[in-house]
Amino acid sequence: MDMTSVFQLIEEDLKKVEAQFEENLRSEVPLIPTIGRYILASGGKRIRPLLLLLSARLCGYRGDRSIPLASIVEFVHTATLLHDDVVDNANLRRGQKSANIVWGNEASVLVGDFLFTKSFSLMVADGDLAVLKALSDATTRMAEGEVLQLLKTCDLGISEDQYLEVVVNKTAVLIAAACQIGAILGGAAPVQVQALRDFGMDVGIAFQLMDDCLDYVADREEFGKAVGADLSEGKITLPLIHTMRECSDAERARVAAIVANEGLEAVDLEWVLALIARYQGIEFTRECARRRIEAAKERLGALPVGLEREALETVADYVVTRGR
Ligand code: IPE
Ligand code: IPE
Ligand code: MG
Ligand code: MG
Repeated sequence: MDMTSVFQLIEEDLKKVEAQFEENLRSEVPLIPTIGRYILASGGKRIRPLLLLLSARLCGYRGDRSIPLASIVEFVHTATLLHDDVVDNANLRRGQKSANIVWGNEASVLVGDFLFTKSFSLMVADGDLAVLKALSDATTRMAEGEVLQLLKTCDLGISEDQYLEVVVNKTAVLIAAACQIGAILGGAAPVQVQALRDFGMDVGIAFQLMDDCLDYVADREEFGKAVGADLSEGKITLPLIHTMRECSDAERARVAAIVANEGLEAVDLEWVLALIARYQGIEFTRECARRRIEAAKERLGALPVGLEREALETVADYVVTRGR
């Protein structure tokens, strides 16, 4: 199965989710739907709603609660993007100017808050405490991940484990929750709920590992975000962590000087890229991501064989081959 067939399998539901976004954005305050539509219409991959819908179907769910719940996971994600671009001082998102550039930091933060709080209203309206717990735990940990990452800014001594803790919290827990909620909707047995959650966690970790590779080596047009942004923000990610373990003291000192610098010169980015290439930082990170994806797919052994399971395997494989 390829990704096109995966999207076809769930096409009807995804269309309903897109319509639900429009409803969720309704507000008397015009700037909210304006900014909300701008970012939602700009073409995100919709990986989180996709995983929730597929997980629900895999567990036999045929009702319509999956639509608002899928819209909620995308709303939470969108809220974090609005906030993340302010914190990271980003200027490009999904191939267009990020909202902070068009409307400013204040508007981005406040509309991000709207998306967050609206998500919680919608969860309460759904009324399932198990779902509410999964999502509120996820959002708490996401905030912790972002703060932890902030504390590690420019810290070249960050260990692989500390980096992984950031990755798990800021990215993987929401993807895990999306899969878990699908299983909860289907009334799956506890071992199956756990298996889908674990699947999402491994996919989520691999997803961020690949994002961190792409941040260095992506084609900017396809990626839709700035390349080299992590280094210029002082975000020390696995390709560089691995390189720091392998390189010479002199090379390490030069990286430290570059990271400490305000603003990243193109020549310095080139130099760091060449260093990462010499010590195979990208290959190392990709290999870690690939191992996570293999583990993720093994978790699916606890779930029924069929089209939806195949689709989840396809999404997992896509995560380590994607260019955006
Ligand atoms: C971007 O997420 C933030 C990360 C967790 C790396 P996505 O790569 O899912 O972003 P969109 O929604 O497709 O734009
Ligand atoms: C993703 O981290 C964290 C979020 C959950 C928003 P990044 O800072 O790497 O995300 P991008 O690369 O800006 O999308
Ligand atoms: Mg960012
Ligand atoms: Mg990134």
